[in-house]
Amino acid sequence: MHESEGRVEVSGLTKSYGGVAAVDDVSFTVEPGSVTGFLGPNGAGKTTTLRMILGLVRPDRGRATVGGIEYADLAAPLEVVGAALESTGFHPGRTGLDHLRIYAAAASLPSSRADAVLELVGLADAGNRSVGGYSLGMRQRLALATALLGDPDVLILDEPANGLDPEGIVWLRQFLRGYAEAGRSVLVSSHVLTEMQQLVDRVVILHRGVLIRQATLEELSGDHGDLETAFFELTTNRETRA
Ligand SMILES: Nc1ncnc2c1ncn2[C@@H]1O[C@H](COP(=O)(O)OP(=O)(O)OP(=O)(O)O)[C@@H](O)[C@H]1O
Ligand SMILES: [Mg+2]
Repeated sequence: MHESEGRVEVSGLTKSYGGVAAVDDVSFTVEPGSVTGFLGPNGAGKTTTLRMILGLVRPDRGRATVGGIEYADLAAPLEVVGAALESTGFHPGRTGLDHLRIYAAAASLPSSRADAVLELVGLADAGNRSVGGYSLGMRQRLALATALLGDPDVLILDEPANGLDPEGIVWLRQFLRGYAEAGRSVLVSSHVLTEMQQLVDRVVILHRGVLIRQATLEELSGDHGDLETAFFELTTNRETRA
């Protein structure tokens, strides 16, 4: 893989709904070899930003590229970017394995990838069960498995720790760490800062649609201590200045 292939570049992304800016002139990069936490409270604009990166929402202004190319122009998108935005979109009557096989077929990937990714996320034993009977944590794992089908350079996960038990969170942390260490890029959103402290090595902090800080976790800790303190200090600063 070429280094720049997994680089995500977000530049001036802006999106308003009904005259209110959900995302306002947001720019940041996601670097290969690292796990970037995309942090902010409910309604900060995280999901909207991720949807714009993935070409699911059209920005009013700005653009986002992966390896210099807009998502919509990627020839084999699943092999470049794997995304899990919501874990609710599964057909409940389908088995986990069937779900993955359908997605693999749609992307012209071999059906053996379905078995491989189920194994990767620790769902091999549940592959022949209906997704309707999966727990929230199992659906999160299936969403991650779907994102991994194309063995992508970039993983974009919206609140992937939601519904995971503590053991699941430790597992996710190790998995994403390994993914990044293989030189790939991981962008993972969360509104639960304590979950992110040990998961990420870079942070992009969003507040009311505005980017308030992009830094390495180390830089941020140097300035503010832990993530929660940093977040509190950065957002209260904003509010007093506003
Ligand atoms: N399709 C839409 N129509 C109208 N408003 C929207 C739409 N999508 C998002 N918004 C608004 O944009 C803002 C940002 O929402 P978004 O879902 O991006 O936040 P978030 O950071 O992902 O929050 P959460 O942590 O709750 O997932 C919110 O005020 C939301 O109500
Ligand atoms: Mg969201």
